[in-house]
Amino acid sequence: MKNKIIAGNWKMNKTRLQAEQLITQLIPLVQDTANTVIVCVPFTDLQTVLALTKGTNIHVGAQNCHWKESGAYTGEISPAMLAELGVEYVVIGHSERRTYFGETDQTVLLRTKAALAAGLKPIVCIGETLAERNDGLTEQVLTRQVTEGFKDITADELSRIIVAYEPVWAIGTGVTATDDQANDAIAFVRGVFARKYGAQAADALYIQYGGSMNDANAAGLLAMSDIDGGLIGGASLVADKFAAIVHASK
Ligand code: PGA
Repeated sequence: MKNKIIAGNWKMNKTRLQAEQLITQLIPLVQDTANTVIVCVPFTDLQTVLALTKGTNIHVGAQNCHWKESGAYTGEISPAMLAELGVEYVVIGHSERRTYFGETDQTVLLRTKAALAAGLKPIVCIGETLAERNDGLTEQVLTRQVTEGFKDITADELSRIIVAYEPVWAIGTGVTATDDQANDAIAFVRGVFARKYGAQAADALYIQYGGSMNDANAAGLLAMSDIDGGLIGGASLVADKFAAIVHASK
């Protein structure tokens, strides 16, 4: 089994001072793990978190980026801006971006390509809604998201991408996918990648689970054969809860 990649997605939480507090608490709690630890923080926290985590095992990510290098796009942040700061990762296509900010498979692809070109490692989110699952459309939706959202991603590019399977009905709801539901969906997604990129590339691909993962359910989810890590929202805002998830898989 691979080591796990555990990423916190702070969403629109933590002012700069609160970020300083959380990171200061987190550093000693996660320093001895073989797993990869990432925190994806608001743009305004990036410099502070980068400075505090320098020389530690905590990697830093942003939560979105635009696909243009610069220009008249008021309110947007380019991949180059993130890369120059020293940011390593960027979340792309989170369901909240898809739902509230018009993100589509096409804009996910544009952002992913641009992030890769700037040397960032994208964490690309996919996942079905409750209505889609209830209508039996889960596999169809996941296939579309992978087919369209990764349309001209090369095998070399795929090796620098993390995929996060986040069923929308499990995000922030307290309803977690069961270990089997999460594993089955991720195995299905891996199969879609395998058909395009081959079994070896699909096996090497890190696919995380996200959606109400917490210190109580993480061990079970992370023990599943196809689950390579977690993307954690709410529980990443509390140092000891997030640290417990980091250590849930040894
Ligand atoms: P949650 O969020 O852990 O609060 O459900 C996960 C995510 O949206 O990445």
